[in-house]
Amino acid sequence: MHLLRVSLASVAFFALQAAAQIGEYDPIYSDYDYCQGITSDSKTYKPIPGATLKKVQLFMRHGDRVPSMVFPGDDADYSLCGSATESHYSGSDTLSRTPTVQSKIMDPQDSPYHKLLWKGNCDIGQLTNRGKQQTYNVGKSIRSIYVDMLKFLPKFLNTDIIYVRNTHAVRTRESAEHMLNGLYPSRFRVPGSIIEMNAYPEAVENIVLSSGNLCPALPSIFKPFASTPTFLNFFKSNYALMAKTNNILGIANNPQYNNSLNGDFFISRLCNNMPLPCSRTNATDCITPTEATKAIAGTWVMAYGPMRWGPQVEKVKRISGGMFVGTIPKNIRATLNGDPSSRPFEFYSVHDQSIDQIMAIISAPNTPWPGYSATLGLETWELADKSHVVRAIYEGKMVKAHPDLKCSLEACPLDTFATFLERYVPSDAQAECAV
Ligand SMILES: *[C@@H]1O[C@H](CO)[C@@H](O)[C@H](O)[C@H]1NC(C)=O
Ligand SMILES: *[C@@H]1O[C@H](CO)[C@@H](O)[C@H](O)[C@H]1NC(C)=O
Repeated sequence: MHLLRVSLASVAFFALQAAAQIGEYDPIYSDYDYCQGITSDSKTYKPIPGATLKKVQLFMRHGDRVPSMVFPGDDADYSLCGSATESHYSGSDTLSRTPTVQSKIMDPQDSPYHKLLWKGNCDIGQLTNRGKQQTYNVGKSIRSIYVDMLKFLPKFLNTDIIYVRNTHAVRTRESAEHMLNGLYPSRFRVPGSIIEMNAYPEAVENIVLSSGNLCPALPSIFKPFASTPTFLNFFKSNYALMAKTNNILGIANNPQYNNSLNGDFFISRLCNNMPLPCSRTNATDCITPTEATKAIAGTWVMAYGPMRWGPQVEKVKRISGGMFVGTIPKNIRATLNGDPSSRPFEFYSVHDQSIDQIMAIISAPNTPWPGYSATLGLETWELADKSHVVRAIYEGKMVKAHPDLKCSLEACPLDTFATFLERYVPSDAQAECAV
């Protein structure tokens, strides 16, 4: 999530000092691919034998997008967005077969900044066509499990049992639409049925960090991580790469960009098979795919490191994931108690940061950063003895629980899970966030 990256630019420089072990993922995620998140489908998914599924809370990162900022002089051609027959839906099944509008990002020839701008038809951070297809495919996989296999959701859309929430960003809203279209293609909908897509106002969004708004103290709470020895080691071992990427991108003296490995620049190119940049003064001095991959991994360290290690880690978790996680047990209990306003299937279309800050609380530390369209599924099951357990599936794997959680996330007793999450909810968020 670029909001954090920009606002913490000065911290970012030090964040690169995180230890090498921080970038090493648990071997269960050996098939992890940052370009393509993994979601189980009916071929790989296994229910809990003898138990009944009561509730699903699914978190999905948006699909593939272009960089969330324009690097000075980025000369790539990002013709990855939209198409002539664009409609709100895509994938192999479109709800609106006769689009009535076509949006187009203009080529602003008259702008004094024209030559600094990338080419192509994408605006900053826009979902690409690839990203649309990815999120549509998540919907198909989810359908194969919860509709076809478990019959937890009905074959035909019933808008009363689905709750959808997306963030204010256009790419999460669009990703939600594509996913829902994969989950309920038009032949499984009564014409005219409308799914409500809920979003918090941006100024008080609590499912992704927006440091300037909700929690002014955030940067200073993240900062102590920068002084840890693991950080300093990581910085040393990545300094040469940072200097090289800075030089090639022409940002060596630009403090807005030069304090990070700028993984966000490289990831679009790698995931869309676009050429990597070379120096403008030396055409044979180029970034290799290995270097770009390392830059991407190093950039994530900055975002997930302070949530997992460092002197203030518990406080960091409270003012990031803690702002939201209380909603999870609250909604589970509402469904189990038969609250008529509660929905058994909740779908959150969010950002990498949103999922990672929940993972930081519930999971053992070495989990990979959420890939494009990655999902975290929380399932509440009723066992034969009528007790309830929660299990967590991330990137297609059972989540290894954080040691403090003291249960297995293959079947964690609901009370244990709920009490643990509630521990992270700030009792006075405004006071904790005051500067
Ligand atoms: C980034 O640019 C600033 C300002 O020119 C400079 O002081 C700083 O050393 C640069 N940082 C890196 C890592 O090159
Ligand atoms: C150009 O870059 C290559 C590869 O990094 C390097 O070997 C070579 O010395 C450079 N040439 C000049 C003139 O700096």
